[in-house]
Amino acid sequence: MTDALSQDTALPSPDAPLALDSAVPRREAREKVTGAARYAAEHTPPDCAYAWPVPATVARGRVTALHTADVLALPGVLAVLTHTDAPRLGPSDDPTLALLQDDRVPHRGWYVALAVADSLESARAAADALRVEYETDEHDVRLTAEHPRLYTPEEANGGHPAVRERGDFDAAFAAADVRVDATYTMPALHNHPMEPHASTAWWTDDGRLTVYDSSQGSATVRDTLAGLFKVPEDAVTVLSEHVGGGFGAKGTPRAQVVLAAMAARHTGRPVKLALPRHQLAAVVGHRAPTVQRVRLGADSDGVITALAHEVVTHTSTVREFVEQAAVPARTMYTSPNSRTTHRVVALDVPTPSWMRAPGEASGMYALESAMDELAVVTGIDPVELRLRNEPATEPDSGRPFSSRHLADCLREGARRFGWEGREARSGVRRAGDLLLGTGVASATYPVLVSPSTATARADRDGSCTVLVNATDIGTGARTVLAQIAAEVLGTRPDAVRVDIGRSTLPAAPLAGGSSGTASWGWAVHKACTALVGKLRAHSGELPAEGLSASADTEEEAGRESPYARHAFGAHFAEVQVDTVTGEVRVRRLLGVYAAGRILNPRTARSQFIGGMTMGIGMALTESSTMDAGFGDFAERDLAAYHVPSCADAPAIEAYWVEEDDPHLNPMGSKGIGEIGIVGTAAAVANAVHHAVGVRLRDLPLTPDRLL
Ligand code: MOS
Repeated sequence: MTDALSQDTALPSPDAPLALDSAVPRREAREKVTGAARYAAEHTPPDCAYAWPVPATVARGRVTALHTADVLALPGVLAVLTHTDAPRLGPSDDPTLALLQDDRVPHRGWYVALAVADSLESARAAADALRVEYETDEHDVRLTAEHPRLYTPEEANGGHPAVRERGDFDAAFAAADVRVDATYTMPALHNHPMEPHASTAWWTDDGRLTVYDSSQGSATVRDTLAGLFKVPEDAVTVLSEHVGGGFGAKGTPRAQVVLAAMAARHTGRPVKLALPRHQLAAVVGHRAPTVQRVRLGADSDGVITALAHEVVTHTSTVREFVEQAAVPARTMYTSPNSRTTHRVVALDVPTPSWMRAPGEASGMYALESAMDELAVVTGIDPVELRLRNEPATEPDSGRPFSSRHLADCLREGARRFGWEGREARSGVRRAGDLLLGTGVASATYPVLVSPSTATARADRDGSCTVLVNATDIGTGARTVLAQIAAEVLGTRPDAVRVDIGRSTLPAAPLAGGSSGTASWGWAVHKACTALVGKLRAHSGELPAEGLSASADTEEEAGRESPYARHAFGAHFAEVQVDTVTGEVRVRRLLGVYAAGRILNPRTARSQFIGGMTMGIGMALTESSTMDAGFGDFAERDLAAYHVPSCADAPAIEAYWVEEDDPHLNPMGSKGIGEIGIVGTAAAVANAVHHAVGVRLRDLPLTPDRLL
């Protein structure tokens, strides 16, 4: 077990031979806090024009008239693009990007026009002034577990089978000594990164397109734009040098980059487009709402004999997206008889998409809440109950785990949190008007990795450079890649330059699925290893252009593993509930993780704490409410969509256990970007139950629900 000291984030001593495992500060930190770091909307090419999109104001129907002439007469207006005159786009496998191609309105907020003007103000005024007429149809935006159009999809996200059955759930559940049967709901949630989706785009006379885009992966943006605008991939360059968060909302190309490129082509000028915050809810995806029924049957010792997790969710009529919330139940606990299913209905709503720990974050809220209910009915401590249900192999696949230290996380978390001696009864810890309670929940996230390429170069001046089209979305990717290179090259991270964030660099996958460091780092490790070999074989001065080596991990990173590979963790929360106002406040939140080797304690801790903070929001404050009348999300700015503020987040602590897993990648790391949000809401909700003695199963736990 690692003690707190060795997980310290104190600055490393200047002459320590540091590389991996060191709390190296984020290399672009100074640029970011001084404003020197440039984001996509902060590049202003000469003669730049500005665009502002026009969202549909009906929930379903078609556009019958667009009164563009009035708007074109306004000062500074250069163009109003509509489905009648916008450039015709080539095919794309993402129908949300078929923008301004026809008159159909599949949901409210779908873009029906784009105003382009000399200034941001003129573009906005033009967009606001545009009169649009519609023919409307009845719309249906209400998700219910009994919706008549629910269907079972071919598969859920991530290529997971929508339905899995093992053994005989119904018989085992009927025969169980104790049973839990509970339904949990979560509203839609929005990623709302600090930096909105933004692009600055221009075409040159030779038919080349250059775009600064706020994206988690510029290669996908490049390839998508090439297809849509029918130009070769190498005619498109996409730069995503600094990205102010994405949380999945920037994992796929979004409307802003297509519209900016369209407007630039149409006007012959560079065009800048930053989507306004109040439009984001409808066009950049959301975590789909879920209705989740969990049934647990167990023997009197709390050992699970039957487990069912049945998920109902929505998608849009534009694109099928199926939140894979029942998937973690296939991994977590002993369950000889199990059923995990997903059903979905296509409603007239904006298209859902990836949001931090898609599947796991939603699913583990329900599963870990149900585990708490099982602890209550069996009278077994919730930590102990989880320990009794540790599987020997992954329940669904039968594969051995490459490493699984959930039990260590639970024990270490319990020790650090002071869990021992917890009052088993709920609703009895009082402090004046406050009721106090504690709760626990497990966390898990799969180990994902994709093939990548990278190049490493040694120069005459003793410096090294690694080149890879990684994206740093605020995670510290630049910093950890320098550490990986330094470790292999036997140098210090500050002797390594890291060139990332540009589609012309060696090909690399997106920053998503908590897979960036493993994927890019593997290629950097391999390229640096090859470079060391070349340097050893070289004698005399290096050539003027330096010495370089390239690597491609297609073979090793693309291979299916014989092991079930997941990170695990445990979250512990203490809450207070005000019996007068109904307000819930988190007093303490602690996470302990088993995520392979932690490459940089400083940036890793930030990611864990960031995920946990988002988990507090999921539990207590965040909700996107579908307005059934308008067919739109009611919360469309950060005043209405309540992400936790500093005052909502207590002192959050994150630790990890040492985990040496040889079945991952040369660094021995698992992903850490998403696991912090998994199970956190359940830990908080379980603590609320412990405080008040009443089980509330619908998130978020706002005061109106408590009173
Ligand atoms: Mo993340 S939701 O995998 O970008």
